[in-house]
Amino acid sequence: MNEKVVHYPHYIGEEKLTNNEVINVEDKFENTPLATISRGSKTEIDKAVKVAKETFETIKLTPTERADLLVAAAQKFKERKEELAETIAREVGKVINDARGEVDRGIQTFLAAAEEGKRITGHTVPVEGQSGNENRMAFTIRQPVGVVAAITPFNFPFNLTAHKLAPALAAGNTIVLKPAEKTPLSAIKMVEILREVGFPAGYLNVVNGYGHEAGQHLLKHPDVNMYTFTGSPDIGRLIKSETGIRKVTLELGSNAPNIVHKDVENLSEIAQSCVQKGVIHNGQACISVQRVYVQEEVLDAFLEEAKNAAESLVVGDPMKDETQVGPMIDKKSAERIESWVNEAVEQGATVVSGGKREGSIYYPTVLTDVKPEMKVVCDEVFAPVIVVVPYKEFNDAIKQANDSRYGLQVGVFTSNIHLAMEAAKTLQFGGVIINDVSTFRADVMPYGGIKDSGVGKEGPKYAIEEMTDEKIIVLNNR
Ligand code: SIN
Repeated sequence: MNEKVVHYPHYIGEEKLTNNEVINVEDKFENTPLATISRGSKTEIDKAVKVAKETFETIKLTPTERADLLVAAAQKFKERKEELAETIAREVGKVINDARGEVDRGIQTFLAAAEEGKRITGHTVPVEGQSGNENRMAFTIRQPVGVVAAITPFNFPFNLTAHKLAPALAAGNTIVLKPAEKTPLSAIKMVEILREVGFPAGYLNVVNGYGHEAGQHLLKHPDVNMYTFTGSPDIGRLIKSETGIRKVTLELGSNAPNIVHKDVENLSEIAQSCVQKGVIHNGQACISVQRVYVQEEVLDAFLEEAKNAAESLVVGDPMKDETQVGPMIDKKSAERIESWVNEAVEQGATVVSGGKREGSIYYPTVLTDVKPEMKVVCDEVFAPVIVVVPYKEFNDAIKQANDSRYGLQVGVFTSNIHLAMEAAKTLQFGGVIINDVSTFRADVMPYGGIKDSGVGKEGPKYAIEEMTDEKIIVLNNR
């Protein structure tokens, strides 16, 4: 083993456990080793869940203690921002400026969770309004579910881990984290910082490993009370089938649509934004712009602007400040999208820009003349590729946007308030973003989809609701 390559063990209570078998974590642009992690399986999962359960039962922190610790962690993230951003940039291949943005968002997520954790409320229940109950009074309280298992994705290893850990802790739960094996490093640093600022070790347990080993065992463990997962619909379905009647929050994929109506005043800016937010994070975000429905009268102008925007993007080394698009998570993923684009072209699609791969980099690509059944339209591209589709009437665009197995977020551009309200009511998505792209996300807002995009919501306030059980208390004045 290269001496500079750090090894990360499992973090189980006070213990740091290692396995002989390791998984290599690479710099996704340089393809050089960054670290190794232990390859955990059933034994480590069983230990981690046991510690998390015992800790939940024996070490109680008050809401203000938990909030203070979350704020202290956020402060450490600020102090170590550049180091954390570099870790994210290298482990994901994310461009450094996006990685810095991800750390900033993680800080906001922690601060919001700290605030929300201090105001977890139930509500009064007017049981006396039902005759015979005049002597009773009722209200609900919310209590932590217990052990939360968090299974996190490769694309936002810091902020999507924050969206799971911060609300779980704010609500008083203990955690077993299985970070993405390709990008575990920034999540592990987050856990180290949380322990360093004072969370008892048993609150935050990390088992490293593969989804099909460590992850699978985590799903089967009866002492886990809730699962929070971001990833693909296939794994989402597996989690639902394995976890029975336990709680789950599943943030799954999308082929995010955006509608650009002819009445917009700033078409050029919108076209640029659709391209930039289609390729941000190298296209690997669940709400990256993918399908763009453009009213036919402004189609040519939109395509020209989109082509210019795509061709002006700086592609290459994610560690350089000027780079806007870096490598995908691995060569296989870049080859996969290359084959989808080639297939679309064979079936009649036109490449407006891009359509080229170099190793694991896929160039920002704009396609048109596509058909609804092409993979680049109906499946999730999860790559820096957008497709532009003309429409005549606004209602056609709504129908086409809704014609998907996914329903996470949609963007709609129009200057007409009536159309905006119609869109808000009829689009079948977890979020409708008017006059911005589908990619917009403020970390405090409820985030989560319908259909194959998942169940449950993230965003600290909403995640805390998911991660707590509501209990009714009835007082009988006999
Ligand atoms: C995701 O890929 O679901 C996360 C997108 C984001 O947080 O911006």
